[in-house]
This record gives sequence, structure tokens and C-alpha cells, in this order.
Amino acid sequence: MSPPMSQTPSGRHPMTGNLMTDEAAVEGHGFEEHEYDVVVVGAGGAGLRAAIAANDAGARTAIVCKSLLGKAHTVMAEGGIAAAMGNVYADDNWQVHFRDTMRGGKMLNNWRMAQLHAQEAPERVLELEEWGALFDRTGDGLISQRDFGGHRFARLAHVGDRTGLEMIRTLQQRAVALGIDVFMECTITEVFKDSGRVSGAFGYWRDTGRFIVFKTPSVVLATGGIGKSYQITSNSWEYTGDGHALALRTGASLINMEFVQFHPTGMVWPPSVRGILVTESVRGDGGVLRNSEGNRFMFDYIPEYFKAETADTEDEADRWYDDKTNNRRPPELLPRDEVARAINTEIKADRGSPHGGVFLDIASRRDAEFIQRRLPSMYHQFKELADVDITAEPMEIGPTCHYVMGGVEVDADTGASRVEGLYAAGEVAGGMHGSNRLGGNSLSDLLVFGRRAGLNAAYYAERSRARRPKFTDAQVKAASVDAVAPFSAEGEENPYTIQHDLQDIMQRLVGIIRKSEELAESLVEIRALKERAKNLAVEGNRQYNPGWHLALDLANMLVVSECIAKAALERQESRGGHTRDDFPGPDPMWGGLNLVLTLAGDDQVELKHQPLPVLPDELQRLFEAQQ
Ligand code: FUM
Repeated sequence: MSPPMSQTPSGRHPMTGNLMTDEAAVEGHGFEEHEYDVVVVGAGGAGLRAAIAANDAGARTAIVCKSLLGKAHTVMAEGGIAAAMGNVYADDNWQVHFRDTMRGGKMLNNWRMAQLHAQEAPERVLELEEWGALFDRTGDGLISQRDFGGHRFARLAHVGDRTGLEMIRTLQQRAVALGIDVFMECTITEVFKDSGRVSGAFGYWRDTGRFIVFKTPSVVLATGGIGKSYQITSNSWEYTGDGHALALRTGASLINMEFVQFHPTGMVWPPSVRGILVTESVRGDGGVLRNSEGNRFMFDYIPEYFKAETADTEDEADRWYDDKTNNRRPPELLPRDEVARAINTEIKADRGSPHGGVFLDIASRRDAEFIQRRLPSMYHQFKELADVDITAEPMEIGPTCHYVMGGVEVDADTGASRVEGLYAAGEVAGGMHGSNRLGGNSLSDLLVFGRRAGLNAAYYAERSRARRPKFTDAQVKAASVDAVAPFSAEGEENPYTIQHDLQDIMQRLVGIIRKSEELAESLVEIRALKERAKNLAVEGNRQYNPGWHLALDLANMLVVSECIAKAALERQESRGGHTRDDFPGPDPMWGGLNLVLTLAGDDQVELKHQPLPVLPDELQRLFEAQQ
């Protein structure tokens, strides 16, 4: 792989030949410099797909990722890629997928994104197959498609319960084969601008702490989500809202940050693995939820909105699982927000499992061969981590913070933010999923909008070739001073303590069920943490120093958490991934509004209401025509 897979000593970079200034020459803040047309920040599905598209469009492209290449939250979308290919149900088509996505998002989605997504997803899946992805097959040899919550038809193209992993493997292999430069274990801390246009990016190598600067007119943010702001999450250490915060600080806007998805099924026991994802495929393949009394409680939680299409007796649900002859789906396959809330209620009502979850049972419904073939990772995960044999006994599960629907406000067709040269795709971008994402729609989102953002970033770079924006030495110096600030702080605050306290606040006060007083309290507490963070001090030096890395990530986590809490307090209704105890139902007035967040010069989060783009008549009719 070309070139910089690791840090190199000062001087000239051995492969690019770029000058790497000696530390002493820049007041102790030496840096290496590279020049590209497009820099993609993040190497999950969206980042890799964006980089491939930019490279294919002729742009000199780099991927910069804070973790090892291939280690991305994409792999946690285990069950499949949603795409209306019609391989299992010939009646499926993009219009039905579009309608399901909008209804799942409680109509708060950016309709144009949902339309493009539904139209282009099948092509993106086939392309992935061409590039080497090995999907499971139907009896006829077509790509097999499985059931997931909120999707009218079985439409998730899958590879057992490891679809995200296969997608990453395929995209990564392609990016490497194309010779795209990858800077891994490298964190971007700042995007530079010149007269309002992106001019570069600044970051550091995680192992050496040495600074790195990219000259580039286009940056694509593909950094994923914010899960590490919560105590219980399926996200790993990387997901600290970096792209959200970079966008804010660069002058872009975020929308709808109040909508956080708690996946209904994460592991609850043992404590060391709490939050790890248990794929929705378990329910898609026949698993059911039971409380401590053995009741299949989801029948008690079918909302009016989904009554017509949800089975209301066990017989009817089982018939659907067994032969799919009726159209009324089991209540375990309601959209995630509905299922997570129901589980939460059961646990609060003391009908939970011994370790604070509920039971997910596939053992009594499918034979061991089926379970091991369809859900090999789940089988191993529970066997190795919890000593539970899921072919013989139920799993204990509970909700886990999995995904943020809110993100950078982008143009639907191009992925452009409101800052010229700054693009966003995947989880870091907002709008596509409205107030709640349907399972499986993430992998397709990454492919569809990763490609669009990469292409458009490349086109923009080409257009700006004649007048490339520049950054100044003073900007680089200021960014390096900011980056090392935690080393010279006099204070006694520890980054790990502040992160712990933030996670506690978000879990307790900005969790699945929210109320006004608690949200107001969370804002006071987050702002107090922001003050404490000014006194953060880290020890040691810049060579592999996780305390320093966390100190820098914390600034992102704090501002993004403030956005979530502020928007959650503002939105006085319940919709999708935002449930207000004090405003239990959806309210049509709020249903027409996006909440837009920006950062003022003094680091204050500002919030505005903005009307949703109006759904065109021809798409509106899809909701009238079909039940
Ligand atoms: O449950 C899952 O396999 C997750 C899929 C997704 O978040 O899209």
C-alpha cells in the first residue's frame, strides 16, 4: 500500500519525498506535509466508498483514519445491506423501500436523500459483489435477502451475521488495489479555511504524536458517530463525534442531533461486554423477546401507526415467521425505537432478566444447525464472552446506544455542507434517516452517499484547481499550539474522569426516555464539564499517549453532547429516537421542523428551527396508495 502506513522520522518522507520539518525548527511543533485533491477523514464504509469514488474521478485522494484500517463501526451493522433488489419478494421496489424508510424515520427524513438511497442501493450492492463481496444466496442463486424491522419485505443482502465486515473487507481491498494513500492511526484535529473555503487539514500521528498537515481543497468527513458519549454503547473507542465537532468548528451546521438510536439488543452480561451488539438478524430469523414471566411482551406495545401491518397474536406472528403468507409481521420486527422503548419499560416494571435486560430467545424456535449457519458470530460471541449457548438457551439483552440520526447538514445530491469544500457522508451526515433509522439502511447509506460525496468532492477539487485555497503558517502554528495545550495546562483534571462523568450524564439524563428537568440539568452539567475540561492536564510526552488523545477527543464529545442535550430539550414531542416523558406523542408542528445547530465564535452552541423540505406530490402519493 502506498505510502504512509506509519510514522517516519523527520527529514524527507521516504515515499512521498515531502518535507518533514524538524521539531526544533517550528518551536517544537514540527510537521510533515502532504498535498491531495481530496482528503477523506474516516475509513469505514462511507470513507472507503468516498475515497474510491474520488480516486475514480481522477482526484489525488488520501484516507486518514484514527484507527487501524478496517476497524470501523461499519462492522457492527451485522445483519445486512437494505436494498430493494426483489430477489426474495418480486413486489419489492425502490418506492416501497423509500416509503418504509420515511415511515421508520417518522417522516422527518430529508425526502431527497431517502429517495436517492432507495433508488441507488441495489446498484451499489451489485457493484460490491463485482468487487468481490461474497453474499449468501437464495435457492435460485440470487443474492439472498433477510427480514429486518420496519422493512415491508425481506430486503437485506447479507453475509451470515458479518455483513459489515464483508463490506469493509471488500472496499478496503479495492481501495488498496487502486493505490489510494492511507494514513492510519492518524487523527485530524482541525480543518483549515481560506476566505470561507476549505484549504487543508491538520492532525497528528497517534504513535509518535508528530504533526501532519494536508494541503487540500476538499475534505470529506466520514468519521461515524458519537456512541462513546454514552456508558452503554455498541460503539468502540473511536466514536467520539470527531467529524460532527470538526464540522461545527469549520462553520458547518448539524441537524436533528436529538435523535439517538438505542439498538434494542445489546449484551448485558458480563459487565465487561455490556453494550456489544446482538444483531437484529436474531429477530429477523425468528428470535422473540420475552420478559421474566415468559411473556412475549411486544404484543402489548404495537403503536397505532403500525397496527395495520403488525401481527397481534402469537399464532399470526408465528405463521408469518414460518411461511410468510400473511402481511402482518411479528411485533419484534417493529422499528428499533419502538422495540427499545418496550424493552426499557419491561425492565423498569421489574419484569427484566437477572442482569437488567430481557430475554431474546431463538433456541426454542430454530434448530441448532440453522442458528449456527445463519448467526455464526452471535453463536461465538455468546459462547466465548458470556458462556451462553444460544442454540440451547435464551440470551439476556438490553438497549445499547448504537447510532446517531443527526449529523452534518448536507446537500442531498452532493453531500456538500454549507462550508465550501467540506463534505460529509455516512453516520456523520444528518437527514437521511429522519428521527429513526431502519436496520440495514446504514450500510446502503454508506455506499450511496459515500460515493456521491467522494465524486462531488473530486469535481469540486477539479473546479477549484485554478484558484487553490491556501493556509498560512500562523494557522498551522495555532493548530499545533492547541493540540499540545493539555501538556502545559496547570490544572488537575484527568481526561478519563471527565469522560466517565460525561457518559454518566448522557446515560442518566439524555437516554432513551427524557424529560425537561433532566435535560436542563444535563446542559448545566455538560457546561460544567466544559469548564473543568479547561483544566485538563496530561502527563508524559506526545509518543503514544492515550491520555493526550482522549483529552483532544473530549473537546469533541463535550460539544456534540451539548448539541444533543440542547436539541432534546428544545423538541417538545416524542418522535423516533427522541422520547419525552413530558410530551409523549408526536406533534405535527414539530414534525415539520429540523433543529439546526451551529457554533458561535465564543464556543456557544446556537439552535434554530428550520422547516423541512416539502415532499413532492408524486412521492406523497406513495403514502396514500399503499398501506
Ligand atoms: O442489528 C444489526 O445487525 C445492525 C444493523 C444496522 O445497524 O444497520
